[in-house]
Amino acid sequence: MDVVILAAGKGTRMRSDLPKVLQPLAGRPLLAHVLETAQALAPRRICVVYGHGGELVRERLDGPGLVWARQEPQLGTGHAVQQAMPQLEDGDAALVLYGDVPLTSVATLERLCAAGEGGGLALLTVALDDPTGYGRIIRDANGRVVRIVEQKDATAEELAVREVNTGILIAPIERLRDWLGRVTNRNAQGEYYLTDIIALAVADGVPVSTVQPAAVWETLGVNSKRQLAELERIGQRNIAEALMDGGVTVIDPARLDVRGTLECGRDVEIDVGCVFEGRVVLGDGVRVGAHCVVRDATLGAGTRLAPFSHVEGTSTGEACVIGPYARTRPGTRLADEVHLGNFVEVKNSTIDAHSKANHLAYVGDADVGQRVNIGAGTITCNYDGANKHRTVIEDDVFIGSDTQLVAPVRVGRGATLGAGTTLTKDAPPEQLTVSRARQASLAGWKRPVKPAKK
Ligand code: UD1
Ligand code: CA
Repeated sequence: MDVVILAAGKGTRMRSDLPKVLQPLAGRPLLAHVLETAQALAPRRICVVYGHGGELVRERLDGPGLVWARQEPQLGTGHAVQQAMPQLEDGDAALVLYGDVPLTSVATLERLCAAGEGGGLALLTVALDDPTGYGRIIRDANGRVVRIVEQKDATAEELAVREVNTGILIAPIERLRDWLGRVTNRNAQGEYYLTDIIALAVADGVPVSTVQPAAVWETLGVNSKRQLAELERIGQRNIAEALMDGGVTVIDPARLDVRGTLECGRDVEIDVGCVFEGRVVLGDGVRVGAHCVVRDATLGAGTRLAPFSHVEGTSTGEACVIGPYARTRPGTRLADEVHLGNFVEVKNSTIDAHSKANHLAYVGDADVGQRVNIGAGTITCNYDGANKHRTVIEDDVFIGSDTQLVAPVRVGRGATLGAGTTLTKDAPPEQLTVSRARQASLAGWKRPVKPAKK
């Protein structure tokens, strides 16, 4: 089988500079969803018909097994499919999909393909309470499909038909070539309608069958930002349902957003308002608190993200506790049972097992050993305005509050840094290092007194 994906429409109603099929749904272009679905059907080739702003579409989504056909100008869906025909080989069937219909399931398309086997034409149709705008499926007295009539060409009687054309169909390639060559643009819109091939198939004695999707949303297209948002919620609900079916506790499936891939172990719990982007892997028993944003991260078993944490480009060992209000940036590697508390930022650093930074700290470009305690207000001064330098903190170090470590600098194993230290030279192991003006108290000192008001 070959797949043709129509993606040449202008998408005027999106009111956007970005071509419609590149508008994101669940973090990926609409067309990427259709391509993924098409690929799951293992076709011989996929031909994308592109037009307006299409070079950008091609640049973003080109890949192996894809061929591209340009449609310029756009003279209708029949004309669009015709642009793909030189790329298709006779002897097999062509499945027509749409770059702006992102949620069609593989199972539904497999049923459609099965219906088209043996040289027939098969249409995906749905019955709608309000069929306005769609092409209507016209059947004869015996219930056999005879043709499709577009909204603008239909009589009052035809407009009453509720079964509509989704546009998705499968047809034998050599027949399709012939039919498309015979389609005219003598209709209300002056367009070459793909839907006109149905009457030609019937006239040629080719069997026409219909298949219905499991859900109507599988056939919905995106023409406006409103429809994009509606399909986003449907897509997100599908993702949430798949996670729950896999055993994940999703506190509210209507308040979850996955914009990439989210892989979960057993007994994972996700509270409301979380956003997952890129590739995220949550180990067994991971709990994600409310309103966390997690991007490209792997969290080890039993790790807990407390609410409002932002975790990116990070991997953790087991049983870490992060947040509330913590931020880990790319290059953060935490070993087991590391604790990062509120307003702690970590970047491009490794922190070894059982170390803690519980409040208000910046750890950047650092290698932190095991069982290290980083006091509140500690900062690695990693940047001198031109270069980044590393800070090394060995095992069992205790860093007092409000300490600055001016990198490059090393704190030896078991060292203690007194609160308020500005460390500019390496601190030796096991000793107390402190840089601080000595405390003094002046006996007999009197606070100045304001002159009494008259
Ligand atoms: C089409 C069908 C209609 C069906 C409806 C489902 C035809 C004539 N009508 O109508 O029966 O109920 O879809 O949504 O096929 N496109 C191109 N090049 C073109 C024209 C369209 O690539 O020259 C693409 C568009 O980007 C879009 C799709 O084809 O993805 C459908 O085009 P659209 O103009 O929306 O078709 P409708 O008039 O809605
Ligand atoms: Ca349409």
